[in-house]
Amino acid sequence: MSLRLENKIALITGAGSGIGRAAALLFASEGARVGCVDLVPEFAEETAKMIKAEGGEAVGIHADVRSSADTQGMIRAVVSEFGDLDILFNNAGTGIRGSVHELEEEQWDTVIGINLTGIFQSSKAAIPHFLSRGKGNIVNTASTFSLLATTRYPAYCASKGGVLMLTKQMALDYGPSIRVNCICPGATDTPRLRRHINEAQDPAGYEQELASLNAVMGRLADPKEIAYAALFLASEESSFVTGHALVVDGGQTIDA
Ligand SMILES: NC(=O)c1ccc[n+]([C@@H]2O[C@H](COP(=O)([O-])OP(=O)(O)OC[C@H]3O[C@@H](n4cnc5c(N)ncnc54)[C@H](O)[C@@H]3O)[C@@H](O)[C@H]2O)c1
Repeated sequence: MSLRLENKIALITGAGSGIGRAAALLFASEGARVGCVDLVPEFAEETAKMIKAEGGEAVGIHADVRSSADTQGMIRAVVSEFGDLDILFNNAGTGIRGSVHELEEEQWDTVIGINLTGIFQSSKAAIPHFLSRGKGNIVNTASTFSLLATTRYPAYCASKGGVLMLTKQMALDYGPSIRVNCICPGATDTPRLRRHINEAQDPAGYEQELASLNAVMGRLADPKEIAYAALFLASEESSFVTGHALVVDGGQTIDA
């Protein structure tokens, strides 16, 4: 049986941790050569090292997705390393809690900059390459908070709402040659979520609260369960799917 991403070249942002790292390892195990991009160079290198240790091919690339120079550079780096680019997985993201009156302008800019402008910059850098070869595939990481709001998370909700609509908009502009889809994960057990849990006044209670958000499953998702959804959209198995938001949320939005 052939591998699901055989001969494909993928670039994943935020590949140094959590969902991005799980996707990098999964994509590589399905035959992709992977550009592992992260703001923290050691994180990117570590993921690339993990892939190589499993016999795969990968390169660690340092880039801040908010920067056009960096995103142009990351596309150049992966194309120069592997000769082409098939898949861009825009996954880097962050979140800062605080209602509008509590949030500093700088915090707002950080969240919108990474989660939304980062996808604009990375896509802007990759699309000329995709257009020149007549095909390409973009997968974005949105969130269940693209679909429903939560308390004290305005920049995150606004950014992820934007990711959903940017996904649909780009799917219109660049189809059929470039497919653009997004995944909407529910609460997932990544280092970022663990940090939030550990900083809570009652970590065990907060973890339980987060797990119960994923209403039907009643537990946190494993990053690999989210990575499989990204794999489907990144692969030819989803060749007739574009502008779609694939919800992977253990039932969180079932009655939304
Ligand atoms: N964990 C969850 O519960 C959850 C739920 C829904 C959506 N998401 C989304 O999934 C994505 C991954 O989140 P995660 O939980 O795996 O987080 P994580 O913090 O574990 O990993 C994110 C990675 O992105 C990198 N990164 C941050 N800013 C960057 C930048 N400017 N340029 C390049 N890389 C940058 C970080 O260094 C980190 O390695 C995010 O878009 C997040 O919003 C997460």
